[in-house]
Amino acid sequence: MTGSIAPSGTALSRALTRHVQPGTPHQPRAVLEVGPGTGAVTRHLAQRLGPHDTLELVEANRPFVDHLAAALRHDARLAAIAPRTRLHHGLIQDQQLGHYDHIVCGLPFANFPPSQIEAVVRQLLASLRPGGRLSFFSYIGGRAVEHLNPRQALSRRALREAIDLHVVGSEIVVSNVPPAYVHHLLVPAPAVCRCGSLPKA
Ligand SMILES: C[S@@+](CC[C@H](N)C(=O)[O-])C[C@H]1O[C@@H](n2cnc3c(N)ncnc32)[C@H](O)[C@@H]1O
Repeated sequence: MTGSIAPSGTALSRALTRHVQPGTPHQPRAVLEVGPGTGAVTRHLAQRLGPHDTLELVEANRPFVDHLAAALRHDARLAAIAPRTRLHHGLIQDQQLGHYDHIVCGLPFANFPPSQIEAVVRQLLASLRPGGRLSFFSYIGGRAVEHLNPRQALSRRALREAIDLHVVGSEIVVSNVPPAYVHHLLVPAPAVCRCGSLPKA
């Protein structure tokens, strides 16, 4: 369920949170982090939130939830956002999600069956407001494992299809252990008609 050998490093956490923009008092941002684990990425997210923005965390592993709850009280970087943070224990698939401007997802997709990847990616994209982004990662080197476990090849293909439909940017973080790809997907905002401002013929 954890799907990693270590928490995300600084470079990967920065890449995952790169597009999170602070809101304003008139337009606060709502951010969701899925699979925060022990909070490595959450600490970077906290620095990118404005004073009116809100954060929801959904984590499946009870010991990680307890760890995060304590960190929200005692870790200065997290305590700063604790009053605007809601921590939920459970699977993301079981949550009634709200609407978000940005979702940062730390799920170990390579360990998920293809149908579950499709369902979760669909669920997350449907929870984004127009113009919202979903940022997530996949570890580099997974292809070697696919030869031993063909199901992982199908999982990778399911993820690839979602990426191809919505991707606005991918980057490689080589300094993480293990190195990872970071993908940013965009739900387009509807085109705005500015007919009134068109010059008269
Ligand atoms: C690869 S770890 C990432 C942890 C952390 N975000 C980081 O980057 O260090 C994946 C996390 O997702 C959690 N997780 C796995 N499946 C989940 C699910 N279906 N819903 C919510 N969290 C899940 C795991 O418990 C784990 O904390």
